[in-house]
Amino acid sequence: MSVPLQPPRRLIEITVDGDPVRVPEGSTVLDACSAAGKDIPTLCYGDTLTPKNACRVCVVEVEGARTLAPACSRRAEPGMVVGTATERARHSRKIVLELLASTADLSTTPRAAEWIEEYGARPDRFGEEAATVAQPAKVDNDLYVRDYSKCILCYKCVDACGDQWQNSFAISVAGRGFDAMISTEHDAPLTDSACVYCGNCVEVCPTGALSFKSEFDMRAAGSWDESRQTETTTICSYCGVGCNLTLHVQDNRIVKVSSPHDNPVTHGNLCIKGRFGFQHVQNVASQEDAIPVSGPVSSSVSGSAPGSVPGARTAPADG
Ligand code: SF4
Ligand code: SF4
Ligand code: FES
Repeated sequence: MSVPLQPPRRLIEITVDGDPVRVPEGSTVLDACSAAGKDIPTLCYGDTLTPKNACRVCVVEVEGARTLAPACSRRAEPGMVVGTATERARHSRKIVLELLASTADLSTTPRAAEWIEEYGARPDRFGEEAATVAQPAKVDNDLYVRDYSKCILCYKCVDACGDQWQNSFAISVAGRGFDAMISTEHDAPLTDSACVYCGNCVEVCPTGALSFKSEFDMRAAGSWDESRQTETTTICSYCGVGCNLTLHVQDNRIVKVSSPHDNPVTHGNLCIKGRFGFQHVQNVASQEDAIPVSGPVSSSVSGSAPGSVPGARTAPADG
């Protein structure tokens, strides 16, 4: 399949922390900051999704603007003067990190600990009585786990499941104010929902609130170790669409599957077969006694057809 080329975009120049930067028209301030080598924290931003402006951890100061601007969504304009490390911007990021880390468990959010240290954030200053979203993880199927004690309500999963990619609309926001949470319809188990187990929500979740069951089990057993994992991108062999799979392998076993976000056709999205159908590679059914407790596939999957989901209501789309 050929990918249509876009017409060339003219370059515009803005100033980032005193230095001129040229970026294609239509770029965001975050694009310009990245081009200038600035490391801006992001959480709700997704490179395959429309910016949601939910977390505000990426704010920068724009000369002449009354309020701080979210770098991930604000379009760069010719002549714009941006400060990424002003006292006001850094203070705002610090408060955002304190609020998020005091309410949600950020232990599996990549770089969260580094940012908390860098900005001098003190989530503990709200005291032990601070409201949290702590709750037990929802483990209601063999493929992926929802641990909403780690959820920062960034809405990326809702957008990926809804009209931006999957169009399944299996999950949405329920409740109001501090009680707002991501939920299936009527808080039903995933197996009774409209979920087709594409895992495209897992792909975009920035905190690990959504994770492969294999990763969840290995973390619980203390055997999850990304420093010992390799990533190999290959082609899904289940059908002729040819989606790219990135296999995450630890101790010679596939422990999860992601997909390259820069693929111009799939943009990181997969179906249930490519995302979760890796068990057959490891020949689980014939090696039951070889499955370690900390292994990537729960024993309840043994004997299942690859990609089958006990109780799943909706057949996966082909491809
Ligand atoms: S796995 Fe797919 S269908 Fe199910 S909730 Fe996630 S995005 Fe929606
Ligand atoms: S589950 Fe993950 S992707 Fe969904 S809102 Fe929570 S943090 Fe964001
Ligand atoms: S990353 Fe920009 S508002 Fe969340």
